[in-house]
Amino acid sequence: MTMDTLVSLCKRRGFVFQSSEIYGGTGSCYDYGPLGVELKNNLKRLWWRDFVQSRPDMVGIDASILMHPMVWKASGHLDNFTDPMVDCRECKLRFRADDVDTLPWTHYCAATKGNRFTIPAGEPCSHCGARRTLCPNCGKGELTAPRQFNLMFKTFMGPVEEEASVAYLRPETAQAMFVNFENVLQSMRLKLPFGIAQAGRSFRNEITPGNFIFRTREFEQMEIEYFVNPRETVEGRPADEYWHDRWIADCVAWFQRYGLREENLRLREHGRDELSHYSKRTVDIEYRFPIGWSELMGVANRTDFDLKQHAKFSGKSLTYFDEERKEHVVPYVVEPAAGVDRALLAFLADAYAEEEVRGEKRVVLRFHPELAPVKVAVLPLLKKREEIVKTAHGIRDTLAKQWRVVYDDTAAIGRLYRRQDEVGTPYCVTVDVQTLGDSEKGEAGDGKVTIRNRDSMEQARVPIDALPGVFHDLLGGGAWARVASRYPAAK
Ligand code: GAP
Repeated sequence: MTMDTLVSLCKRRGFVFQSSEIYGGTGSCYDYGPLGVELKNNLKRLWWRDFVQSRPDMVGIDASILMHPMVWKASGHLDNFTDPMVDCRECKLRFRADDVDTLPWTHYCAATKGNRFTIPAGEPCSHCGARRTLCPNCGKGELTAPRQFNLMFKTFMGPVEEEASVAYLRPETAQAMFVNFENVLQSMRLKLPFGIAQAGRSFRNEITPGNFIFRTREFEQMEIEYFVNPRETVEGRPADEYWHDRWIADCVAWFQRYGLREENLRLREHGRDELSHYSKRTVDIEYRFPIGWSELMGVANRTDFDLKQHAKFSGKSLTYFDEERKEHVVPYVVEPAAGVDRALLAFLADAYAEEEVRGEKRVVLRFHPELAPVKVAVLPLLKKREEIVKTAHGIRDTLAKQWRVVYDDTAAIGRLYRRQDEVGTPYCVTVDVQTLGDSEKGEAGDGKVTIRNRDSMEQARVPIDALPGVFHDLLGGGAWARVASRYPAAK
């Protein structure tokens, strides 16, 4: 499966659209459609439930996107959050200096009377043997020498556009946890180790965004700052190092729990030369995206860098009083930092499958039920029979009190099943003639409906009033085998 296959499915089925598409699109910004927003909300909710709500050592915050400009001075983003970039003097396109040779390049070949060729990245022209020296896009312009370009979006607070009112859109959610450290510590009476989590938007003026929602200029992050006492040891190791490995393992397990296959995940240790300015050690959890192995999330040991910097720049003490040792310490921080959009792309890619069923191609998204944007689709077998339609609507209304449930009668049943498979709906419920019988023929209905399992396509005949209980079990992680053992298979 290619990225194009996913992009096309996402647009066709209402997961992700190009932002402002009718105006030609906004550079590397995307809108989540009706199914995309459900999927994204489910993803964020599961992350929050598993890493915040269910843990006694975690709390959350929801901070402003616009923060005091000094935050970015103290954090180092104003000075260090830069990429070297080069500009084409002819077409004016801008590239990351280290990306230029990873792009296919345009070449006007003198050996073939100036014919234009697009040559694969890093390769020479097969006619004249030349290598790229000019702009890879237009093939004509010289590139400027590399210049540092800050990735933060700049704006102005208030009515006057002057240096004193400059503000930045946050490039990471993390800093809010550091500047609120004292507030959270005091208000919640926390003891080390503890973590503060936040999910929200971040903005980076990426020079070369791309690959759909993998790298965009506006995106969402789910970040945790986990504070530990650097003087303590756990299982004979310094606490920060122990917790770093523990968080890496917990994050990998979380992605696997909701569907990412083990063989599509791997760890990558940052080399000394690529560590961020604040990091003692960083490990990326990489996923095998359709574009190849790339970072899904990072887990960094930020040491006491941020708290010390904010203490220095704000003049406030950001320490923790260690009752046992009767001393103030500056906690170390382990930071599991995930991107919502990137995680969503990984879950989409891993769920995607094409298979042949009775000689026809079936596209199915095998989402974990808790991630699936729609949990149940209720489908009437005959839309001309008023009582069938009414019963189907009634079932939808009852189930929709607890889950996202849709009703669809706009095609024949086979087609309706395929549509739901393609968006990953784990179960369909079909109301048919047998459910209600035929009063004109004096036939009584059995009051049962057919539940169809997306993955195995098995079907079971279940009484209508048992549906809420059955779905409570299935959508809460219960096995289909339990339904199959309790209710007869449907033909
Ligand atoms: N606070 C640390 C931090 O922000 P990062 O590695 O720059 O670390 C964390 O970002 C995660 O945020 C990445 O692993 C990725 O999932 C996501 N992310 C970063 N930049 C992104 C972008 N331009 N578009 C989409 N997701 C992005």
